[in-house]
Amino acid sequence: MEVSHNITWHNSIVTKKDRREQNGHESFILWFTGLSGSGKSTLSNAVAKALFDRKINNYVLDGDNMRFGLNKDLGFSEMDRTENIRRIGEVAKLFVDSGQVVLTAFISPFQNDRNQVRELVEQNEFIEIYVKCPLDECEKRDPKGLYQKARSGEISGFTGIDSPYEEPSDPEIVIETSLHSLDDCVKQVLDYLVVQQYI
Ligand code: ADX
Repeated sequence: MEVSHNITWHNSIVTKKDRREQNGHESFILWFTGLSGSGKSTLSNAVAKALFDRKINNYVLDGDNMRFGLNKDLGFSEMDRTENIRRIGEVAKLFVDSGQVVLTAFISPFQNDRNQVRELVEQNEFIEIYVKCPLDECEKRDPKGLYQKARSGEISGFTGIDSPYEEPSDPEIVIETSLHSLDDCVKQVLDYLVVQQYI
């Protein structure tokens, strides 16, 4: 990869603080991480709707969707997954700067990659949500039929089967999707945001 030279950072006249004030709410990242089929997309979209209903401007960046566009050149090697998360981290940071809440739903299997994103933004702007669900339950759900393909050897390097998932060591929130209804899971996220005075 070539590195850019002769570039200058331009500060914007409208600041993050201005944008937050006009929006009437804080801006931050809700980083959902977990196995495929754990419920990241479902939960992040449900939280997005709840925030939207409270007039909190937000947007969901979803792993599968981003791989159709911005990240269509990336596969599932360790290097590509790291690059996937690095790019999403940068995009998420722009959303925070724009005064919005951004929800990201990526497996993001590596602790170090998630930590890098945390480092990109200010303290309190990154909320790591571990969407926890036992592998056998994810396999039972198998919404896209991918676990079956991974078990039969049709797909290799599948997270949880023959590619690692590093559980978050110190996430802000843990949601156990196999133990609670979707509404309860959404409430757990919202309760955290209220108690911590994010919303
Ligand atoms: S990440 O590991 O780089 O964070 P990401 O969240 O973008 O992954 O994409 C995961 C989605 O891609 C899964 O939900 C699944 O639908 C699909 N997928 C295809 N191949 C794989 C694979 N080898 N491992 C995990 N997910 C895969």
